[in-house]
Parts: sequence; structure tokens; C-alpha cells
Amino acid sequence: MYLEIGGEEVISKLVDDFYHIMSHDPLAKECFATHAGKDIHESAQKLKAFLSGWTGGPQLYLEKYGHPRLRMRHFPFAIGTREGEQWLYCMHKALSQSSIESGLQSHLIKAFENVVSMLTEGRS
Ligand code: HEM
Repeated sequence: MYLEIGGEEVISKLVDDFYHIMSHDPLAKECFATHAGKDIHESAQKLKAFLSGWTGGPQLYLEKYGHPRLRMRHFPFAIGTREGEQWLYCMHKALSQSSIESGLQSHLIKAFENVVSMLTEGRS
């Protein structure tokens, strides 16, 4: 999948667009607020490294930070259904601005939805 979507360059643009949308669009303000005190540039670097390995490319996140353990790493943040929906909204918008073929976009969206469900399960 990594190569099919266009590799590092496409992932990098996708994540930059994603965080740009999250930090500017009022419809995502609660999701953005969970990042308070964080360096968004660093958050973006982590997400890029994660998506590289997650799509089957180089395991950059694993090499630098260890196992992602997303549930554990998101636990300190107030993430409920609303924040999850906003995260997906931003990713949807960023994907629609990307060169990724629409079938692959749908595939990614489904996979992102599964992660969001896992992260928001049991939280309101
Ligand atoms: C449910 C909505 C989500 C919210 C509100 C959220 C919020 C956050 C926040 C506040 C951070 C910390 C940023 C930092 O340390 O700079 C973070 C880190 C991260 N998020 Fe999310 N996230 C969400 C969903 C996701 C999803 C769906 C993925 C992956 C598909 C993901 C992947 C990551 C990764 C890889 C990190 C870096 C973890 C670390 O090294 O500490 N997040 N997220």
C-alpha cells in the first residue's frame, strides 16, 4: 500500500494538510485542543513516521519510538466521540486534497475509522 499511495512524499503532504486543517478549521477545534501544549510540527512528524510503517513502508515510528501502542499513548488526552469524528473529518478533507486514488482513500478511511473506534471505545 505504501508504494501504491505514493510513498513518503504523499504521506508527508497528507499529514501536513491534515494538521493544517485541524489547526485552522473551527469544525475541528475540540480535536485540535487535545494537542494543547504540543509542538504540532512534532506531532506531524510522529504521525508521518507511524503511517509509513502502517501502510507497509519503512517502520520509521518503531525504529525511533518503539511499539506505537496507540491506545496507551492516547490515554492521557480527552478523546471522545466528538474528537474522533473531528479527527476523521480532517483526514477525509486531507485525503480529498491528495493524489491518492479514490479506492485506496476509501480503504484508508475504513482503517482510520477502526483506529478511532478503538481509541474512543468506552470514552464519551
Ligand atoms: C480519535 C481522535 C484522535 C485524537 C483526538 C488524537 C490526538 C492525539 C494527540 C493529542 C497526540 C499527542 C501529540 C504529540 O505527542 O505531539 C497524538 C499522538 C499520536 N496519534 Fe493521535 N489522535 C487521534 C487519533 C489517531 C489515529 C486514528 C491515529 C492513527 C491512525 C493516531 C496516531 C497518532 C500517533 C502515531 C501519535 C504519536 C504517539 C506518540 O509517539 O506519543 N491518532 N494523537
